[in-house]
Amino acid sequence: MVALKPNDYKLIVAKPFSPNMAAEIYGVDLSQNIPDDQFAEIENAFLKYQVLFFKEQKEVPPEQHVAFGKRFGPLHAHPAAPTMAGHPEVFEIHATKDSKIANGEFWHSDVSCDETPPLGTMLQIHIAPPCGGDTMFNNMYAAYDDLSGPIKDMIGSLSALHSSEHIYKGRYNDRGRKDTDIDCPEAVHPIVRTHPGTGKRSLFVNRTFTTKILGLADTESEAILAMLLEHAEHIKYQIRFRWTLNDMAFWDNRCCMHRAIWDYWPEERKGRRVTVKGDRPK
Ligand code: SIN
Repeated sequence: MVALKPNDYKLIVAKPFSPNMAAEIYGVDLSQNIPDDQFAEIENAFLKYQVLFFKEQKEVPPEQHVAFGKRFGPLHAHPAAPTMAGHPEVFEIHATKDSKIANGEFWHSDVSCDETPPLGTMLQIHIAPPCGGDTMFNNMYAAYDDLSGPIKDMIGSLSALHSSEHIYKGRYNDRGRKDTDIDCPEAVHPIVRTHPGTGKRSLFVNRTFTTKILGLADTESEAILAMLLEHAEHIKYQIRFRWTLNDMAFWDNRCCMHRAIWDYWPEERKGRRVTVKGDRPK
């Protein structure tokens, strides 16, 4: 477990984004190899703030983006999304005037339907609309902490099903992915997970993938899931990030959710996403 230090970094500048979570990071050039001592501070800040926004960046070449991702662990292959030509580890986020959907429009933790859902996701935006296209994040540690003792006791031993067929089937057809070529994983995860890096507990359910709490009647499952989601999505746990071109966001899927706001149609928004594989939630 990594001990959380005070904000005494020497090789990066971490400017807290809100009292709730996240930090803007300055003094790092992600288009270059990051020295080990600077990387150690980035890792520490990632655990401390849950979401990092690397500011004042150049466009990071895909090879470098992949290399930076691999510093955190093996990369995760998305079961359904289109990847960048020649770069199978890079998922291209792209919405245009012809898009039927944009990626990540509802609160979620990336690919939580996997047996070993992603540790974290790093997204750089290369084409931004003139305004709009923000991404929201929330703090699932805080959402868990604020639950009452009796609810914590009840959900502490419960698990939930995370499914993806209703999300991935047909979703990327207009971007060249046929339903016959994709996987639609399903997995059961504890509702409360313990972060392997910080030892802290967080809620681990989301509106996109979590479909049922196991061991309960359907009406009980629906009511408790609805209560947990409404609670976790409360504005007090959220932040809303406005992108500047080439900002790189890196979020921890183990302790936060996010959602992308598609309010910029018919404008275009494009970015590249590299996702780091995680552990089985415990
Ligand atoms: C996502 O990865 O869920 C999309 C995030 C975004 O486009 O801001």
